[in-house]
Amino acid sequence: MRTPIIAGNWKMNKTIVETKAFLDEIKDFAVDGVEAVLCVPYTDLAIVKENIGDYIKIGSQNIHWAETGAFTGEISPLMLKELRVEYAIIGHSERREMFGETDETVNKRVHAAFKHGITPIVCVGEKLEEREAGKTKEIVKKQTIAAIKDLASEQVKQLVIAYEPIWAIGTGKSSTAEDANEVIGFIRQVIADQYDQQVANEVRVQYGGSVKPENISTYLNQPEIDGALVGGASLDPTSFKSLVEGG
Ligand code: G3P
Repeated sequence: MRTPIIAGNWKMNKTIVETKAFLDEIKDFAVDGVEAVLCVPYTDLAIVKENIGDYIKIGSQNIHWAETGAFTGEISPLMLKELRVEYAIIGHSERREMFGETDETVNKRVHAAFKHGITPIVCVGEKLEEREAGKTKEIVKKQTIAAIKDLASEQVKQLVIAYEPIWAIGTGKSSTAEDANEVIGFIRQVIADQYDQQVANEVRVQYGGSVKPENISTYLNQPEIDGALVGGASLDPTSFKSLVEGG
């Protein structure tokens, strides 16, 4: 049995003051049998660490492969560990499209995260033109295989993958739950082919793209979908709680 995981990706939103106000609203919040994560901007990690209980886990929105060095603007796994970060989003399409993230750098970041005991949330997903050209499976297969290259089975079992069709991000156009379930089942099959069925059965795969309290249950009801990675709807505390409660 895979534990569902609902993660908020705040992207470049919320100052420290705004974050503190959000945290005040979710004190003592917890839901049995569901893991909840908040992936906040780096500037908010310290205030989250100081003001959050044990239930909600802390996530970052990236992680560098080196521990220290001349990497202006990057964040080291050592820095994240001190801030009690347990998850790191890696390879989000916004990083791939706007900041030069590649399949190779995604894989390096995934290895670094595991080395430091941080669980990667690896994002994969196709662009609209790729979907329309019938290339969805080809794209997610390539991205998935590259992301998990040279990982041990035990690491793959702990991995979280977020299937985020790019055309569904922040657009209000979500994938149907059935379509998302089919692609996520395919991702699991790709992992089974690379490792084995037992490994594939343990990997958690989320759906992301215009998930809201009103539609999250349709995704969670699908057998292959193990939760959601949520952008806009995770910014409001009431909405975030509702997402974790399953809508
Ligand atoms: O990582 C979450 C994401 O890209 C989806 O964003 O705003 O469509 O939920 P949103």
